[in-house]
Amino acid sequence: MKEYFLSLIDEKATLKLGAMLAAASCHNAIVISLFGDLGAGKTTFSRGFIQALGYTGKVKSPTYTLVESYSLFSKTIHHFDLYRVSDPQELEWIGIRDYFNEQTICLIEWPDKGISVLPKADLELHFMYQEKKRDVQLVALSDQGVDSLKHFIDLLQNPKNDVTGILR
Ligand SMILES: Nc1ncnc2c1ncn2[C@@H]1O[C@H](COP(=O)(O)OP(=O)(O)O)[C@@H](O)[C@H]1O
Ligand SMILES: [Mg+2]
Repeated sequence: MKEYFLSLIDEKATLKLGAMLAAASCHNAIVISLFGDLGAGKTTFSRGFIQALGYTGKVKSPTYTLVESYSLFSKTIHHFDLYRVSDPQELEWIGIRDYFNEQTICLIEWPDKGISVLPKADLELHFMYQEKKRDVQLVALSDQGVDSLKHFIDLLQNPKNDVTGILR
């Protein structure tokens, strides 16, 4: 399975998607690219993801800081928002390559702004407005991405998990 579509009926469903994808992919280093217009749900998803891994504070949008980092147990999550980047060279100046390694999980909003300097993503999420709801397409681009997507779908199909609001 390399592609999967879901509908998210409200903000809670977007948070839940983040939490479930975190559970499905936190055992490895992974790069997840988040596409979608302003307000489509990229930061909401990231908040669900980061809080599910044990962070209890406020997850701020990194719009002005470019990146917010969270050290949790043995993992570090880097949450990027590249919206304000006008030249990918700016990312070289902050040493962006050092953020990606075997210990890190990277969530990247507006990855197209850094295309020439970012490593390849394992997973892409494309958020789309659907009237008041959101649709999301998940695309796996590496073996690691395929593995995470498979685990995620297993969690989604497990009747023990409450997936109210996430529609297939
Ligand atoms: N599935 C959803 N359905 C309706 N509204 C949503 C959904 N997911 C998130 N939202 C709302 O949409 C907005 C998304 O904002 P945000 O996550 O900051 O978007 P982005 O980071 O993509 O610009 C928030 O106001 C949030 O409450
Ligand atoms: Mg955002």
